Amino acid sequence: MSIWRRKPLALLLAEASASEKGLKRTLTAWSLIALGIGAIIGAGLFVRTATAAAQNAGPSVTIGFIVAAIGCALAGLCYAELSSSIPISGSAYTYTYATMGEFLAWIIGWDLILEYAVGAATVGIAWSEYLNNLLVTVFHMNPIPYEWCHSPFQTSPEGIDGIINLPALFIVGAISLLLIKGTQESAFVNGLIVLVKVTIVVLIIVFGWQFIQAENHATYIPEASTYTDDSHVAHNFGGIMGILGAAGTVFFAFIGFDAVSTAAQETKNPKRDMPIGILGSLAICTVLYILFAHVLTGVATIEDFRTTGKEASVAFAINKYMIGYSWLADFVTVAILFGFSSVILVMLLGQSRVFYAMGKDGLLPTFFSHLHTKYQTPYKANLVILVIVGLFAAFVPGDIVGDMTSIGTLFAFILVCISVIILRKREPDMVREFKTPWVPIVPILGVVVCLAMIYGLGWLNWARLIGWMALGIVFYFAYSKKNSTLEKKEGES
Ligand code: ALA
Repeated sequence: MSIWRRKPLALLLAEASASEKGLKRTLTAWSLIALGIGAIIGAGLFVRTATAAAQNAGPSVTIGFIVAAIGCALAGLCYAELSSSIPISGSAYTYTYATMGEFLAWIIGWDLILEYAVGAATVGIAWSEYLNNLLVTVFHMNPIPYEWCHSPFQTSPEGIDGIINLPALFIVGAISLLLIKGTQESAFVNGLIVLVKVTIVVLIIVFGWQFIQAENHATYIPEASTYTDDSHVAHNFGGIMGILGAAGTVFFAFIGFDAVSTAAQETKNPKRDMPIGILGSLAICTVLYILFAHVLTGVATIEDFRTTGKEASVAFAINKYMIGYSWLADFVTVAILFGFSSVILVMLLGQSRVFYAMGKDGLLPTFFSHLHTKYQTPYKANLVILVIVGLFAAFVPGDIVGDMTSIGTLFAFILVCISVIILRKREPDMVREFKTPWVPIVPILGVVVCLAMIYGLGWLNWARLIGWMALGIVFYFAYSKKNSTLEKKEGES
């Protein structure tokens, strides 16, 4: 049986309408935009911005944001076409199954674990940083001992080795349980958090602007050199490569707008609402990010972000430089803890829906697609995800999982762009509520910009992506190929 067999589009669409009886359709365009912003503003902005400035680009991290936004907008236009014409759970995985066949669909499904599950772990780790900041600067308590809130691969400046990141594990567990109870309640909580999150970003931009020190922006694009971090990893700093590296790093901050597409099956009018949800949330965040990064790198120095301001960087910058605004740092810290929670929620939601779709297709064991009799949620998938995300959150450093998330998602975006071109050729008459403009130029440019960011992330991350994919290929041939629903259908006929 061919590994290139495709899931017939008619079957996909039939499943989508049959699923009326499965997942509940409760989400509107506004709830999708809220879902998008809920997923988008998070650790990427409040943690990875400072990392990218310190390791790659200095103040020119703002240009990195622009590059990343261009890549996302191009891929977003492709996502919008696919999600409005194939309104079914599973996002890029499902689109690929219909266009490029089972093997590549598996590859993308496996790759999406990097985006959603490993991404949720990254935000969980950032949550742990800000929890410590809350204890110390807001409640004036002792911090959680270093060894209990860092991975075994991290060592403090005082020489203490990490053991396990317990707060990260805690938050991931708590949100998984909330998700099992159902999307509607979760989307409501998410809506409130989105409001708070946008408010703090705007407050930091407005109040921080007056504290920008001209000398911090004097060399906006630093000269090309190499920076070696305290884990002895060398990064390209400054110049074009620095900007591309920064773009790859802060790309994390945009991840999530595509998670909206995984909720297609729970959307009241997916054909109209999906494009609005995806592109609307992306546009709002892009403007906020560029202004925010400009303020942050103007207020504090690169040296800060390489040393004492490495963790909980935004609260650190406010406390050190924005005299009279410690209330803002406290507010940011509390709000961010809730804000990060909403990001984790959307990522775990996205992951469970991808696993749900793969379970239905037989590429994963079928229990992944079992719905809870009372809550109508794929609770078994949620529990498995809890274990995977928990392991990453507890035992891997934030920088590593952050970059793995970025590179995995970039790879998924590339396949989505290619899918649009292929589907236009193979299914020219398919009803498309939203059409990507200037095909094939937009998808091709999307591929090019995403590849440039992958290039900027460096060989260590390429190696991690290849290693992860190799593991997935072994799983496919050992399990999924034989158990695929399409394989069984072919066997019967
Ligand atoms: N975009 C999300 C964040 O920055 C993943 O946390």
